[in-house]
Amino acid sequence: MAMAYTSWSLLSTRLFCTNKAKRYSSSLLSSTDLFCANKATAAAAPAATVLYCSSNCFCCACNGRRRDLWWSWSSGKHILRCLKQLQRNGTKARARASSVRWDNPSKRLLSTAASAVEVGGVTISRDEVVKEEDPTNNVPDTIFSKIGMQLHKRPDHPLGILKNVIYNHFDERYPGLFHKFDDLSPIVSIKENFDDVLVPSDHVSRSYNDTYYINSETVLRCHTSAHQGQMLRDGYTHFLVSGDVYRRDAIDATHYPIFHQMEGFRVFTPNEWEKAGLDGTTLAANELKETLEGLAKRLFGNVETRWTDSYFPFTDPSYELEIFFKEKWLEVLGCGVTKQEILTDNGQGGKTAWAFGLGLERLAMVLFDIPDIRLFWSSDPRFTAQFTAGQLGIKFKPFSKFPPCYKDISFWISDAFTENNLCEVVRGIAGDLVEEVSLIDKFTNKKGMTSHCYRITYRSMERSLTDDEINFFQANVREEAQKKLNVILR
Ligand code: DAH
Repeated sequence: MAMAYTSWSLLSTRLFCTNKAKRYSSSLLSSTDLFCANKATAAAAPAATVLYCSSNCFCCACNGRRRDLWWSWSSGKHILRCLKQLQRNGTKARARASSVRWDNPSKRLLSTAASAVEVGGVTISRDEVVKEEDPTNNVPDTIFSKIGMQLHKRPDHPLGILKNVIYNHFDERYPGLFHKFDDLSPIVSIKENFDDVLVPSDHVSRSYNDTYYINSETVLRCHTSAHQGQMLRDGYTHFLVSGDVYRRDAIDATHYPIFHQMEGFRVFTPNEWEKAGLDGTTLAANELKETLEGLAKRLFGNVETRWTDSYFPFTDPSYELEIFFKEKWLEVLGCGVTKQEILTDNGQGGKTAWAFGLGLERLAMVLFDIPDIRLFWSSDPRFTAQFTAGQLGIKFKPFSKFPPCYKDISFWISDAFTENNLCEVVRGIAGDLVEEVSLIDKFTNKKGMTSHCYRITYRSMERSLTDDEINFFQANVREEAQKKLNVILR
């Protein structure tokens, strides 16, 4: 039977199948749907395309191990294997390796994401979160596609293991007292994320450069403190909230735009401080320090701890806990005595409270010897199989170190240029294959024009990258930087 070819073309960032009989928009193109879409016809995909597969991709030969599939005119192999696999799976796909035609050599980059994700039983559709035409929205597909992943809920993932050890600490110290939440939606109002916890109206964290806005009133939470107000209004006085948090940020081994935090909160009544013979603030501060020192020892063994003064908009006094670990003082968490205003505004007036917030990746990197934050997102069994539920002592053994590739890009910046925006462009193109973006040179000429030179390090955690691939990424970074960031390439 003759194979009908399907060709693909790019319309803004949507991918359409232009086969007469069928039209599929990119929202259908989750890894699974791609092949459904191709079922009736032979598949052809644009050359040089990056397709973000969700980790539960079962249709491709990689069994979900690789989240980014890359192919080009010269290396179309991966998708061929996917199609073969699909045939083996008994579907009616008529595509055969020989029928795949690489149809659109436009060298345009496409990224596709699942059309919906689920958090805590609630479905969140892509259209609710990513609005390319809306200037008050800055959430890219790469972020949306990770919203439902909830790494902290996997009991054998380093983040899940750590979360559960912390839960155990609280359960043993305060049996039955702390309520635990780990699937609250990360979509929150700016009131919850900022106002409820007294973040000043001119604080940098409110900027579009630092936070992912869905619209001018709604954001992807940038910290789990975003839930303090609602929890108190709902009447909870002892709670732990864990979840994914989102920040536009630089790219290096310890920064990733999504990471995980745990928030702790405990309210004290006048009865409790009178019984202790202390004032409310002193009781909260003492109890906070005791609890968290105990937690640090539970996680790190019998380490030396120290407290330093700090600043957070929601606590006063505010502290940071540090431990002496591997010959260095390491910051473990931020905490403090909650400001009265938060309690009063949220139905808990006349009481005191402590609160803390800790970064799960930061601690897990130290506890499990994980050298790069991107590894947490890997579905490569060489990573995932190294960890076991309930076991905190395991040290990650790097399976191999693949070579990095450095590419520099220089341009004249405009006033609106920010490094976070550049990082977003680079991630949008190379995904987790970018390891670092660092400013290596900067100068202003006599005309007052400022030039920046950034070094981009590409490196996969899982395989060697080819020259073709990297050149393709870099060419796209240059093109997109010029287009989206309003810079002049040098
Ligand atoms: N929300 C803070 C952050 O993301 C962490 C934090 C600090 C939370 C102190 C707290 C706290 O509850 O009391 O950096």
